[in-house]
Amino acid sequence: MQFDNRLDAARQADQQDPLRAYREQFIFPQHQGKDCLYLCGNSLGLQPKGVRPAILRELDHWAEHGVEGHFRGDMPWMHYHRFLTDAAARLVGALPQEVVVMNTLTTNLHLMMVSFYRPTAKRYKIVMEAGAFPSDQYAMESQVRWHGYDPATAIIEVAPRTGEDTLRTEDILQIIEREGDSIALVMFGGVNYYTGQWYDLEKIAAAGHRAGAYVGFDLAHAAGNVPLQLHDWGADFAVWCSYKYLNSGPGGPSGTFVHERHANNPELPRFAGWWGHDENERFQMKKGFKPMPGAAGWQLSNAQIFSFAAHKASLDLFDQRGYGSAPGQKPATDGFP
Ligand SMILES: Cc1ncc(COP(=O)(O)O)c(C=O)c1O
Repeated sequence: MQFDNRLDAARQADQQDPLRAYREQFIFPQHQGKDCLYLCGNSLGLQPKGVRPAILRELDHWAEHGVEGHFRGDMPWMHYHRFLTDAAARLVGALPQEVVVMNTLTTNLHLMMVSFYRPTAKRYKIVMEAGAFPSDQYAMESQVRWHGYDPATAIIEVAPRTGEDTLRTEDILQIIEREGDSIALVMFGGVNYYTGQWYDLEKIAAAGHRAGAYVGFDLAHAAGNVPLQLHDWGADFAVWCSYKYLNSGPGGPSGTFVHERHANNPELPRFAGWWGHDENERFQMKKGFKPMPGAAGWQLSNAQIFSFAAHKASLDLFDQRGYGSAPGQKPATDGFP
């Protein structure tokens, strides 16, 4: 691709950008009295103008109703995660029941590994990208150690060839094939945080499954950035954060995907909490965990309403523009119809 870096060409590209009007929906930090050029959306997205009223609305709801806010109004806190599910599911090409917004990213990565990294003497390895974000590396290492294995032998990192900066898909697939039935989990980012490489997740999922392993993705740099079809690709699980490309504020909540073939399996081991318990019985305060159907059954705690409200305000923008796709539909190459 020939990139035209002249100012005129950039101005013309701006004029033709179908998302141009959306710029007005965000608040830009100021520099010398002007909007600054903000190229840090990969770290913290800008604040959508809808966030402040959304948080104020919940503050008012709290002031007016106190604890009854859990049950009153058109967005009662008791069910708050549900108000984010449809839009979050479209972002990643999932069925609504396969997605839940909860906790934060690294927490959810650990929760997913409790269910999907269950090593045995024969099948205990994790295949991942070399140079993954440190939190992912620490999560993998600590999970491996927790199960009594040595990260030096249990974690297989796929690295670029000498003199190259990015991974070749053929090398990723070849390593998965070579390690075969010693692999318990293939765990990859969607887009690498440092190189920006967008991995071929469909091929990685298929190769991992051919090896008989579970396949999970960290979509911190992919959700809201590139089109995703998690359901159709058959990923077992995925996690992502909401504060980068999803513009939902510092420490914003994380999304989690569990494929429907696992989502309704109450036998799958998991770390449980009361918010994952069948909501019809939750307040009976009885012994015996009975998971909610779908990914919602992995919730631990009641929703962090203020950060969920910010996330919802941002997801509403993606939804307005129809970003993402349902399973079975191929999203456009930029994710926007
Ligand atoms: C790929 C990736 N994984 C994990 C994290 C850590 O996220 P959190 O602090 O929300 O757990 C980040 C944060 O930038 C990230 O980019």
